Amino acid sequence: MADPILEVKNLHVHFETHDGTAEVINGIDFTIERGETAALVGETGCGKSVTVKSIMGLLPSATIPEGEIRYKGEDVLSLSDAERHSRRGKEMSMIMQDPMTSLNPVLTVGEQMMDVLKWQGRPRLSLSKLVRDALSTGSKAEYRRRAIEMLGEVEISAPERVFESYPVELSGGMRQRVLIAIALLSEPDLLIADEPGTALDVTTEAKVLDLLDELVEERDTSVLYITHDLGVAREVSDRINVMYAGEIVEQAPTADLFANPQHPYTRGLLESIPTLSTGIGDGIEGHLPDYTDPPAGCRFADRCPHAEPACYDAYPYPRQTGPDHATACHLFSGTPARERHESLAAERVDIGTAPWLAGGDVAGGGDAPGDVSADGGTDQ
Ligand SMILES: Nc1ncnc2c1ncn2[C@@H]1O[C@H](COP(=O)(O)OP(=O)(O)OP(=O)(O)O)[C@@H](O)[C@H]1O
Ligand code: SF4
Ligand SMILES: [Mg+2]
Repeated sequence: MADPILEVKNLHVHFETHDGTAEVINGIDFTIERGETAALVGETGCGKSVTVKSIMGLLPSATIPEGEIRYKGEDVLSLSDAERHSRRGKEMSMIMQDPMTSLNPVLTVGEQMMDVLKWQGRPRLSLSKLVRDALSTGSKAEYRRRAIEMLGEVEISAPERVFESYPVELSGGMRQRVLIAIALLSEPDLLIADEPGTALDVTTEAKVLDLLDELVEERDTSVLYITHDLGVAREVSDRINVMYAGEIVEQAPTADLFANPQHPYTRGLLESIPTLSTGIGDGIEGHLPDYTDPPAGCRFADRCPHAEPACYDAYPYPRQTGPDHATACHLFSGTPARERHESLAAERVDIGTAPWLAGGDVAGGGDAPGDVSADGGTDQ
């Protein structure tokens, strides 16, 4: 853990709803090192977008009752709105989930890119300077040149034409490339990519992901990559955080997670990855718990094939199951991965060891469902 660009510690995010307080994010911790691509993986509704919007400061309706978000060591939750705004775009940038809603339909691509260049890294209130700048033909020409150059970098073949186009005139793949161009315009040090490409067909998605991979590699940008697909996370990331119902249930370097998947939810996700021999997996039966009335113990218990009565009551805090591997499940022993859970460790909940581990050897790997290399399916 040399030099983290982003550290999220014990983050809780709540919303007030008609049915009461929705405790969506429940004490998550993760770190992204400089130059690293980390993935946050989990099914729809598990809290991926809420997590990243909290990092970006884009959730005015949420409360953060506890937790820390440190960007380059600075506690961003203690900054004013204007200070956070000035870091958005310039320092951290985000590719939003839906290309159609994140582009303004009544402005051309060029107008939107020029806006980004004008606003980035500036305090919101400096209007007089903005007006002066907007009137300056020199900076306008420079912004235009920079925007068209960036459209070329995302491999748009007629960048001048796209610069003058409205979003509706572009294909889905082209819109996604425009979003990547906008996110990278000011060379951010951290890029958050929220499911880029899921609105696209598989071939176009693969091309967009390859392009994104190349661009961030060239720039040495740190990336937080959001996806519901462990197969995609395996291709793009150095480290994976598996999220279920607002908690991180397993985290490990990518190769380690696939060699030795531990949490029953991770194993269920792995079984859902389509392979050539088994086709599309069955997925995991059941639903996420109600965030306004979450279980006191394991949030996955209702869907877990290994659940024991104790799982419903006792909170499965993340345990260190290897030098750089943490899992939050009572089937695994190990010291608490976070100091704040040390008091819980005193009352060991014994539900035995994972049935797939012969002799209870946690590090042994066992019969991993992610090991699909035999049929050449997703092992790339
Ligand atoms: N502004 C809000 N007010 C109340 N609840 C919210 C709000 N935003 C999100 N939620 C709830 O938080 C939960 C997590 O939502 P989130 O958008 O983070 O899921 P996700 O993991 O990004 O899913 P997807 O893969 O579909 O994008 C959902 O139950 C959602 O309804
Ligand atoms: S703590 Fe119990 S219910 Fe939760 S994932 Fe582990 S075995 Fe399943
Ligand atoms: Mg989302």
